[in-house]
Amino acid sequence: MPVIAVIGAQWGDEGKGKVVDMLAKKARVVVRFSGGDNAGHTVINPLGEFSLHLIPSGIFSSQTTCIIGNGVAINPTVLLKEIDQLNQRGVDTSQLIISDRAHLIMPYHILLDSLEEKWRGGQAIGTTGRGIGPAFADKVARLGIRAGELLDKEILRKQLRFILDYKNAILTKVHEVNPLSFDEVYRQYCQYGERLMPYIRETTEILETALHRDELILLEGAQGTLLDPDFGTYPYTTSSSPLAGEGSLGSGISGNKITGVLGVFKVYCTRVGSGPMPTELTDGTGDLIRETAHEYGTTTGRARRCGWFDAIAARFSNRINGFTRIAFTRLDILDTLPHLKICVGYQLDGKVIDFFPANIAALERCQPIYEELPGWQVPTTHIRQYQQLPPQARQYVERLAELTTCPISFICVGPEREQTIEVRPIL
Ligand code: IMP
Repeated sequence: MPVIAVIGAQWGDEGKGKVVDMLAKKARVVVRFSGGDNAGHTVINPLGEFSLHLIPSGIFSSQTTCIIGNGVAINPTVLLKEIDQLNQRGVDTSQLIISDRAHLIMPYHILLDSLEEKWRGGQAIGTTGRGIGPAFADKVARLGIRAGELLDKEILRKQLRFILDYKNAILTKVHEVNPLSFDEVYRQYCQYGERLMPYIRETTEILETALHRDELILLEGAQGTLLDPDFGTYPYTTSSSPLAGEGSLGSGISGNKITGVLGVFKVYCTRVGSGPMPTELTDGTGDLIRETAHEYGTTTGRARRCGWFDAIAARFSNRINGFTRIAFTRLDILDTLPHLKICVGYQLDGKVIDFFPANIAALERCQPIYEELPGWQVPTTHIRQYQQLPPQARQYVERLAELTTCPISFICVGPEREQTIEVRPIL
């Protein structure tokens, strides 16, 4: 019963989309289990280049059922646009299923996301502005509306009436902006319901059947471990959990059925938005990595902060996810650098520490302690066999894996599906 969770191991944008697309042809089911359209998964395959926000990256494999799980917050406008765009480009979406338990992003979530950011002033999180925080807050506050409710207009009307009255009070009295019209929102969401109806259903039974048949299930993560609300750089985090444990909760598969956890790491670090990042490079090397790798957000277009690989953060990420294998992405980006640095400790208030502090004020003060390795300074994008990588490149990834304490499964040397080196099987 192989169930493999594919997890962002850093601050997101590690290349999970490519990894899932690559593995999906063998999978019976791919379930996206957390986040919302704050995620941007870029997939480049023989059908072209695609930027997915909500639909699982397994959608290009015709025999794979793709589930948007209960742990995802869905903006129906974005989802319908994504379905239409895929269909226009000849990608079949009839294998897509939406969990009836998935929460919906409503227009007031998007408004409140930007109003709350404004309210925070200098302490703004730098969110993607997609309404993610307010939607997940409503989920736990029991003020959410779920995909299943779109199937019954009377239930939708009743719930929206009470919730929108409350949200309008906040919009007008706290933020002093105009209220939203009940009729407009209701009409719009009834229309979404009509279009999304064929996709919405109960999903745990499909997973149970696949488990009984011993078929491969992939649990597709979104964002990255260090953006987790519990273990990330709180409050500079997202609002749903990107961890392997959420792969169980956000899909409805029992935790003891997960057989493998693939941690996806870039061979350097990036971060979008505010919050501490100990190895951030604000010099020419950071700019070089950003421009070579085109490190700009898929969702917002914002420049990503770039830095050296942080092995302290990586080991912490492994501790809380239980990685069984690593996928390293974007090795080719480092091809031209004469030397590379890896953070192997932090200097904090005169002491050397080897853990990732929970307190972000302390993390802000952490100065990285680096180990330096030689670069390889030859192209790697054409290489498909591990032994053909330059010895310095092998030395670099082996050291990263050693410090992270997990074996490597894949190394990516370019964005295309086949630009991948298999080091050892995933299970
Ligand atoms: P939110 O998820 O839009 O609320 O944003 C909260 C924080 O998570 C911000 O720093 C965002 O930049 C970051 N974030 C959210 N989604 C992603 C992602 O897919 N990749 C990288 N950062 C993300």
